Amino acid sequence: MKKYILLFIISISLFFKGFAEEGMWLPQLLQSLNEKDMKKLGMKINASDIYNISRSSLKDAIVSFGGFCTAEVVSDKGLLLTNHHCGFEAIQSHSSVQNNYIRDGFWAYNMGQELQNPGLFATFIISINDVTKAVLNGVGDNITERERKSLIDKNIAALKAGTKKESYQDILIRPFFEANKYYMFITETYNDVRMVGAPPSSIGNFGKDTDNWMWPRHTGDFSMFRIYADKNNRPAAYSPDNVPYKPKRSLNISIDGIKEGDFTMVFGFPGRTNEYLHSSAIEQVVKLSDPAKVGIRTKALQVIDGFMRKDEQIGIQYAKKFASISNAWKKWQGEILGLTKSNAVEKRKQLEANFEKIVMSKPELNVAYMGLLKDLEKAYHDIEPYAYARDYYSEIYPKIELLLFANQLKSVVNAYEENGETGYAAAKEKALQNIEDQYKDYNAAVDEKLFTVLMEMYVKDQKDEYTSPYFKELLQQNSGDYAKTAATVYAQSKIYEIKSLQALLAGSAKDVTDAIKNDIGYKIAMDMQYTFGTKVAGHLNEIQSHINQLQRLYMQAQMDVFTEKAFYPDANSTLRVTYGQVKPAYPRDGVKYDIQTYMDGIMEKYKPGDYEFDLPKKLIDLYNKKDFGRWGVKGKQPVCFIASNHTTGGNSGSPALDAYGNLIGLNFDRAWEGTMSDINYDPAICRNIMVDIRYVMFIIDKFAGAKNLIDEMKFVSRVKK
Ligand code: ARG
Ligand code: GLU
Repeated sequence: MKKYILLFIISISLFFKGFAEEGMWLPQLLQSLNEKDMKKLGMKINASDIYNISRSSLKDAIVSFGGFCTAEVVSDKGLLLTNHHCGFEAIQSHSSVQNNYIRDGFWAYNMGQELQNPGLFATFIISINDVTKAVLNGVGDNITERERKSLIDKNIAALKAGTKKESYQDILIRPFFEANKYYMFITETYNDVRMVGAPPSSIGNFGKDTDNWMWPRHTGDFSMFRIYADKNNRPAAYSPDNVPYKPKRSLNISIDGIKEGDFTMVFGFPGRTNEYLHSSAIEQVVKLSDPAKVGIRTKALQVIDGFMRKDEQIGIQYAKKFASISNAWKKWQGEILGLTKSNAVEKRKQLEANFEKIVMSKPELNVAYMGLLKDLEKAYHDIEPYAYARDYYSEIYPKIELLLFANQLKSVVNAYEENGETGYAAAKEKALQNIEDQYKDYNAAVDEKLFTVLMEMYVKDQKDEYTSPYFKELLQQNSGDYAKTAATVYAQSKIYEIKSLQALLAGSAKDVTDAIKNDIGYKIAMDMQYTFGTKVAGHLNEIQSHINQLQRLYMQAQMDVFTEKAFYPDANSTLRVTYGQVKPAYPRDGVKYDIQTYMDGIMEKYKPGDYEFDLPKKLIDLYNKKDFGRWGVKGKQPVCFIASNHTTGGNSGSPALDAYGNLIGLNFDRAWEGTMSDINYDPAICRNIMVDIRYVMFIIDKFAGAKNLIDEMKFVSRVKK
């Protein structure tokens, strides 16, 4: 690193010209970076109406929902709207054969019927401040990455200790722009979040995996919750004495609908993007990483699907696993397609050529950044075999539950070997409980088949030295036959079945740890871990740390070189604003994606009795009677719409807002052809998918008859009806 002299960190200039649509922008910088651009696109409010720390603003209505989704406050009694797939765990946890809320939906017709959800929380952002100077204080050019990290950790600890906050608030400090910048967030987290309503899955997840990531879409992907607070409106653990939270701000709901060209923005917590990669990294995603992960998941899904179709019990047990394996599987295929079609690698190479030209033309840039691109390219080349091995390991290991049970038992062994009898009983209790929970949605025949198929890929598709010698020995003993090896393993192992596991865990601590360590399944798991740890992880981490350092410098370099461009930081699960317009798309030759879908399309897709496309009778009746209430237009009921907002995973449940900041929809997906927006946003192809707020209200009002909820919300309209 010595050869680079880091240019003094130029603060991100506030005078860059914004460019429309692409970008996940920081709410506190909208005024300086984006407001003009947003107004040009049609926004009628000011940046200070979106983010303000001296008076209430739209940001006070947005929460991180459980840390994995976004939700928004839509009444002065703390009512929340989010997606059905965001609330699904809660819905599932309250469901039983008697009260099947997944199948039938759930509605609280008064607050007394609302259901508590241990572990679920809602976090508000109170303020965001630039703390880069304090965090990087004393961080010079000539220190190692390790020294840098420890210095930064120390600075952050000091900063936190020295920052005033209320007792019920938290402080979060996060890196941005590949750790060139740091921002501090003061947050308030409410832990009493109750379930208020959810439509049946046949509405909330209509089309399931077949329609997932697809347009045209007809899913009513929403559910409702409510934040409760103590008597002083402060965060509090669940208590029957808690009262509905009084928000600083709640969103008004526009029932005017959308038309092409309308301004929209999405306000929420996008999870992770990689927009500033070197072309060789993108090439690796397209050629190696995505295809490898897709290949493994294709095999796993085939196995699970085969069992699910034949056995109803397995169908229920594996529904959630199947959906989550399938979700990223489908997204990555869209990503490969989109990156290829949009010539992402070529375009990035052009950008790099441009970068080099400018660097060569200015001595000070030359001194700072010469050779940087070559070094990046080399580092990505170096990491390739290890990254590939990591993809294999991290995709295969967790899909074989036998190996996950072994992980649980490892904590029992560790407890005993590190601290003897102290803590051993507790560790055993906890492991047993976790495994028993896992058993509920587990079937040994499915797992054995997954083991057979995935371990074959594990051995055959990778360099020999990265794979477990112990497993290969077993394989040899079984004449290289994977099914036979699996049969042996599942016949001998005692850890994948409750009775034999309980027997294994009975006895003295010493006997139990010995028995665990002798189990054939446990031995395979540990040897896989050991092999990965010794042959891959060390190199991987070392090169990754070097890449992080280079990408950090490259991020700064891009800002120094392309001075006319406005930069936004990659998504990192912090609050962002993205904006664009309601717009059709042309994803393939001869195909146009229209902006809006209607209930007519639901009926076109309707397949009675089908797992994905069945419908509740009541919905069909409402459709046939055209009983849409005030939520329909001209005898049609709008359902979903698309726009060019730059979103990603974590934006699920985020409010889609109109030019006036009124709620017009809930974000829940992207169109398949544009999922490469995590790496390379292209305004021609990339579209986010939202459920139209009028469909949400139609379901609450006409389908569920939950007038109590409708009465709580505030509706606005600018057109005379
Ligand atoms: N693709 C959306 C997301 O990434 C929705 C996933 C949930 N829906 C489903 N059918 N699996 O989260
Ligand atoms: N469904 C995604 C989520 O859970 C949002 C879709 C996307 O990845 O853009 O956040």
